[in-house]
Amino acid sequence: MTAANGGRVDPPTGRPPAARRSLRRAFGTFATGVTVVTVGGEQPHGMTANSFTPVSLDPPLVLVCVDKSTVMHTCLDNTPVFGVSVLAAGHSELALYFADSRRPVGLGEFAGIAAVSGERTGVPMIEDALAWFECELWQKYDGGDHTIVVGRLLSFAQPAADRALLFHNGRFSATGPDREVLP
Ligand SMILES: Cc1cc2nc3c(=O)[nH]c(=O)nc-3n(C[C@H](O)[C@H](O)[C@H](O)COP(=O)(O)O)c2cc1C
Repeated sequence: MTAANGGRVDPPTGRPPAARRSLRRAFGTFATGVTVVTVGGEQPHGMTANSFTPVSLDPPLVLVCVDKSTVMHTCLDNTPVFGVSVLAAGHSELALYFADSRRPVGLGEFAGIAAVSGERTGVPMIEDALAWFECELWQKYDGGDHTIVVGRLLSFAQPAADRALLFHNGRFSATGPDREVLP
């Protein structure tokens, strides 16, 4: 890894901002799918996350890495259950919405979003997602500026069969023989 040190230091990491940007670019070469992590209750909330990883079949575990500065991080301190919806190729706008800090909070956040309540948790799940995972908190691990949140599955389903939304080098695309770059 190369990083130019311009003499300025970014307090959270001790690294200069240029190094932080170049590390982010290097991480971004790892192509992923895209999910929306959700919590329910009186203040439902959703957050786009590409750090989702299936972990274990027995017991059935998944993980997501949640930035400690996010609203979602606070939400996950206050609820034992959460949902993960795996996004389809047509969901790039939805992914941008749930990554936009200007989106409304509370019930208004899901106004106009096609979501259904998870059977086991009541957590909002994206209606035409490729997969749903309803989870109860299994374990949390410190992951630097993120927390690694491991969930044990309470239920899963595959509501839609479609191409997957991908995230690579900071851009959305889709699986399939003719990969197209989406806006
Ligand atoms: C494609 C994509 C993937 C993202 N993945 C993650 C992730 O895995 N973990 C995370 O904490 N933030 C991730 N983010 C950033 C959050 O979605 C974004 O900071 C969001 O506004 C946080 O919401 P909140 O603070 O309202 O909870 C991602 C953003 C995008 C566009």
